[in-house]
Amino acid sequence: MPDGLRKESAPVRLLDLHPPRGDFRAEVLQGLTDSPKMISPKYFYDERGSHLFDKITRLPEYYPTRTELAIMDSRMTEIASLVGPDACIIEFGSGSGLKTRRLIEGLDSAVAYVPVEISREHLLMSAQVLADQFPGLEVLPVCADFTQAFELPTPARQAARNLVYFPGSTIGNFTDPEALELLEVMHAEAGPSGALLIGVDLRKDRQLLEKAYNDDAGVTAEFNLNLLRRINRELGAEFELEDFEHRAVWDPREGRIEMRLKCLTEQSVDVSGTRIPFAAGEDIVTEYSRKYEPAEFAALARAAGFLPVRMWTDEASLFSMHYLERD
Ligand code: AVJ
Repeated sequence: MPDGLRKESAPVRLLDLHPPRGDFRAEVLQGLTDSPKMISPKYFYDERGSHLFDKITRLPEYYPTRTELAIMDSRMTEIASLVGPDACIIEFGSGSGLKTRRLIEGLDSAVAYVPVEISREHLLMSAQVLADQFPGLEVLPVCADFTQAFELPTPARQAARNLVYFPGSTIGNFTDPEALELLEVMHAEAGPSGALLIGVDLRKDRQLLEKAYNDDAGVTAEFNLNLLRRINRELGAEFELEDFEHRAVWDPREGRIEMRLKCLTEQSVDVSGTRIPFAAGEDIVTEYSRKYEPAEFAALARAAGFLPVRMWTDEASLFSMHYLERD
């Protein structure tokens, strides 16, 4: 169809709850004076970081994305019959598009799609893309920090229930107490007849896990080091990237992959006016990626008030999708 004749969908209306902008500088300086040194993984995702993460999801070693998509595809009829017709989908984070698209297509006449995300720019862009793909669907983006309770928009057509959607095992970035708190927020947002569909990465063999975070092409290493690049650029820091090395180690006691940046030599680094001392071999912890036993996750969700209804996994038990309802 010629461009001039293409029907434009209505621009999406944003519910802006004005989340306080996290103070990058203050948080980084705080984290670098803690012991062990730590920087939140939420800062990975500048433009280059988001692009590198996209590349990670297509790596042969990185099984989560393609496995979750395969589970979703093969179980969609069952998911749709559990959720029922006329659901309002509330996605925590504004998604990559593909998984969300499959869910919207798979459900029986979804009433609305509500992506919730702190980055206004990212939120509006992905909301508009979805609105263009589904002209009949009401898209109601909410700009908010989803780790705190937030107000929900009311769809024009009344929903039979809310379905909170949280794919990608992003829950793995949180410590167990933080994950419990987040599940409690989801429980509240789902409302009385609400449900939760969540992707959760599973515990497995150390080798497979460590490979997924130490890929041969070095993309995950680039992704991790990009954090220092970003700090150099945005905070005027002077990290020498060659002096830091990517590490990703499985901790079986905590049940998580820990990503770190190891400082190879003793030095001090200027971070916007503050000198940060490093011992030779000292680590900055940059990410936790928690892997659960299915029963372990179910217990956590129960503690937040959810009733586990159904769990799906792939043939090799690499990844899981859990469907839960409010009790
Ligand atoms: C987006 C948090 C689910 O933990 O696997 C991928 C991020 N980090 N490779 C994960 C990530 C390194 C990813 N999550």
